[in-house]
Amino acid sequence: INKIALLTSGGDAPGLNACIRAVVRASIFHNIKVVGIRRGYEGLIDGDFFEMDSATVSNIIQRGGTIQKSSRSPRFKTSDGRESAYQQLKKEGIDAVVLIGGDGSFAGSKAFTSTYNIPWIGIPKTIDNDLTGTDSAIGFDTATNTAMEAIDKIRDTAESHNRIFFVEVMGRDAGFIAYETGINVGAEAICIPETENDVQHLFTVLEKGWGRKKSSLIVVVGEGNEAGGAFKISNDVKEKFPQYDVTVCILGYIQRGGSPSCSDRVLASKLGVAAIHALLNGEKNIMVGEIKGDIVYTPLEIVTKRYLEIDLARIELINILST
Ligand code: F6P
Repeated sequence: INKIALLTSGGDAPGLNACIRAVVRASIFHNIKVVGIRRGYEGLIDGDFFEMDSATVSNIIQRGGTIQKSSRSPRFKTSDGRESAYQQLKKEGIDAVVLIGGDGSFAGSKAFTSTYNIPWIGIPKTIDNDLTGTDSAIGFDTATNTAMEAIDKIRDTAESHNRIFFVEVMGRDAGFIAYETGINVGAEAICIPETENDVQHLFTVLEKGWGRKKSSLIVVVGEGNEAGGAFKISNDVKEKFPQYDVTVCILGYIQRGGSPSCSDRVLASKLGVAAIHALLNGEKNIMVGEIKGDIVYTPLEIVTKRYLEIDLARIELINILST
């Protein structure tokens, strides 16, 4: 392996730059040249390449976003788009590709590697944390910390005005952010996409809270709830309890930005180096992840989307904490 291409694809996540830095530095350490691809798969199809050296990645470990820019690429979903991408890689003399992406990007990787023979290593990043093959994806820890800090502030207002706040967090159709944030802010209730929303249960929890003379209640709602988002659920509560002061806040994109947390910087650095080690070990078409502290390789074809498992321990934890 003499020359690799590196791209960041899909929604940005804190820790992407830390991971770019690790891939580039590990490559240079092992005498491998790195070509950066701008704008994810879109830039790959267009041949939007640039050389990367150690200085390119100086002073970026702490920065949010991605210096390589990112995109969601409808063109890469087509065989014509992937053929153009392959031609661009051949023209540039690329021996292997390192992709930092989420489940949509990995679907693209699977489609590409099932046709073309260029070793491909994936690194998991998504604030949603909805990927198999790793305990945590890059960006998830920072996103939950950001949600926690935001809701701590919302709690001040909720307390001062005796309000119920419904705070909607990201995560698409997976409830990892909602679940962890619900715990870390001491929410009175959570609504996650993986469970059917039991509105009656929510009413009971809220009534109990007011009954105990709480002066604020927080409900964390995952954005992908089938029963509807924070507005819909809060309307049900307003109808049932017109006497309550109910407010909705959608946290949105603030969860995607900002300086990565310590855990995300460390994870991004470990996985970036692991990707290059995997290539040097002769691995191809795998994703590197971390499970229980160990680096784990998962074949791309079995990397898939995952959802929060609702087991008894989780249900009990939520019940105990909302008592
Ligand atoms: O996958 C990350 C994520 O932020 C999801 O939580 C959210 O549903 C989605 O991306 C938003 O996508 P877009 O950036 O295309 O608006």
